[in-house]
Amino acid sequence: MFSKKITTWGTGALLGLGLAMGSVGVQAQTGNCEYLVTNDWNSGLTGAIRISNTGDSAIDGWSVSWEYDNNQVTNAWNTQLSGSNPYTASDMGWNGTIQPGQSVEFGFQVNKNGGEAEAPEVTGDVCAGGTSSSAPASSSSSVATSSEASSAVSSSLASSSVPSGGEQCDWYGTLYPLCQTTESGWGWESNESCVARSTCESQPAPYGVVNGGSSASSSVSSSVSSSQSSVQSSASSESSAQSSASSSSAPSDDLTFESLRNLAEFPVGVAVPAGNETNSILDDDPTGEGQREIITQHFGQITAGNIMKMSYLHNQRGNFTFGNADALVDWALSNNIGVHGHALVWHSEYQVPDWMNNFQGTEEEWVEALREHVIGVASHFAGRVDSWDVVNEAFVDEGYRTDSIFYENMGERYIEEAFIAANEADPDADLYYNDFSMENGQPKFDNAMAMARDFVERDIPIDGIGFQFHVFVDWPSTSAMREVFSEVVDLGLKVKITELDIPVNNPYSDNYSYPDNYISEYTDEAAQAQKERYCSIVEAYLDEVPPELRGGVTVWGVFDSDSWLIEQTFDNNHDEWPLLFNDNFEPKPPAQGVGDALMGLPCQ
Ligand code: G3I
Repeated sequence: MFSKKITTWGTGALLGLGLAMGSVGVQAQTGNCEYLVTNDWNSGLTGAIRISNTGDSAIDGWSVSWEYDNNQVTNAWNTQLSGSNPYTASDMGWNGTIQPGQSVEFGFQVNKNGGEAEAPEVTGDVCAGGTSSSAPASSSSSVATSSEASSAVSSSLASSSVPSGGEQCDWYGTLYPLCQTTESGWGWESNESCVARSTCESQPAPYGVVNGGSSASSSVSSSVSSSQSSVQSSASSESSAQSSASSSSAPSDDLTFESLRNLAEFPVGVAVPAGNETNSILDDDPTGEGQREIITQHFGQITAGNIMKMSYLHNQRGNFTFGNADALVDWALSNNIGVHGHALVWHSEYQVPDWMNNFQGTEEEWVEALREHVIGVASHFAGRVDSWDVVNEAFVDEGYRTDSIFYENMGERYIEEAFIAANEADPDADLYYNDFSMENGQPKFDNAMAMARDFVERDIPIDGIGFQFHVFVDWPSTSAMREVFSEVVDLGLKVKITELDIPVNNPYSDNYSYPDNYISEYTDEAAQAQKERYCSIVEAYLDEVPPELRGGVTVWGVFDSDSWLIEQTFDNNHDEWPLLFNDNFEPKPPAQGVGDALMGLPCQ
């Protein structure tokens, strides 16, 4: 595996050329600045600068500089870059504070201009030793990596939804009633959800039992930033956004809880359109606004439904177009929402860029081209995404999918090369193999598991299996999905439900024949069946997958009529209602079903 080349300038290093003060305080601070080459190829490299706080007090804002002989920075992320040799990089606000013992990294891509990879000296107050004048924060977060990128927004309490006075549970920033009789987990008492005292008290500080009528407890909780409340032990997916409150202030009339994301300690995600897509969530119109409200209230992670796929990001070799994806990722992170990347490698139709479709080369040259793509993309988003679908849909029931340009030119080897490259580019991201129709334990699941076992034995970096879960109300059986979950768990890999949707019609069932026989209206009966189904899938997930292996549950789309199923499965023949929210951006019964499962309530 590629090993990082590290050049370190420690505490006390002399201030060098190009020193910039930026937002750094006037006093020198005690830090180490490291210049890292994270990947190096013929014409370029990706690098990072890591700033570690080796002192006793918080670093509050930073700015560093460096200069090359020949190399040239072409783009940078997680920093504000200025100058053109020497370069100056300063913090973006959310990554400005570095607690003692912690570090912050930002990344950049470099054109070597025909020369070697250089290892320039990094200078700046923050690299030079001394003592910061800023006061240490009251509690510290885990590590200053990707998780902090998505955790710098203050949380707020939904205090308007609960009665004042008496003890309540501050559940990761949202107030809920304390249960009177339920001894553990979530309960259902007096017609509302409640949290058992023991469960409430098991949260990390500052959460737990509070006096709901006391303004003191409210103000304490509401002013705690989520970077201080990061509870997960690693910088991986679960740590990103789930441990802090959403920004909404009032529960929906229709739901018994305020926010889906706050009911889970793993990412509850949703796929979104963005960029030039119809219904982009970033559009300045009612559809954009309606979606943004739902997402910030209920979801702690997003997946780009399309715009982070191969052809969207890398349509000419070496020329990456990150603008639309960056805008989406920035929006998510600034709203305390994590990102699951989808997908680094997918053989399907127009997802493969033309330059790859037309590429003529040896197996080794193909591997080089694939690595360039994976590394170019994964290193660009390193520190900003929780996880990646590294390879999507590489199997069919009979074995490896052979009608794939990657298989045709590299054989099955392309899959492991993609995982190796992704890990080099972003060692902190969780790396998933993702596929559909594995939920039933079909031959395809066995094929994927044989690959995963082989990867684990040979130390090929894989963190989990993504089950797409484009399922139906009547397929597959919950016992089948429980079995596949537990098989992945037995291998020690994470399980992520990556693309969950459940239409009320099943076009493959004997009962369905359009236009004669199908469900043409969203009846109470259809909604109820769908609610129970959503609930039982999440229930099975919680039962079979232990907390440390839960990569999360993502629903494939925000509102019903935007679902891909209507065009691509039902041929635009009729309406469908496969998602959690309707076209008025109101929650539907299945949203309650997911919430019920997350709260440990029966699926009914
Ligand atoms: O952007 C063009 C637009 O310019 C054009 O006018 C329009 C006309 O057809 O097409 C637009 O592109 C569409 C694209 O979505 C963006 O909205 C494509 O036709 C359409 O085929 C594409 O569908 C996406 C599909 O992947 C691509 O194969 C779906 O939205 C997306 O939900 C779906 O997602 C996949 C996952 O990535 C992998 N798992 C299966 C899942 C469902 O197929």
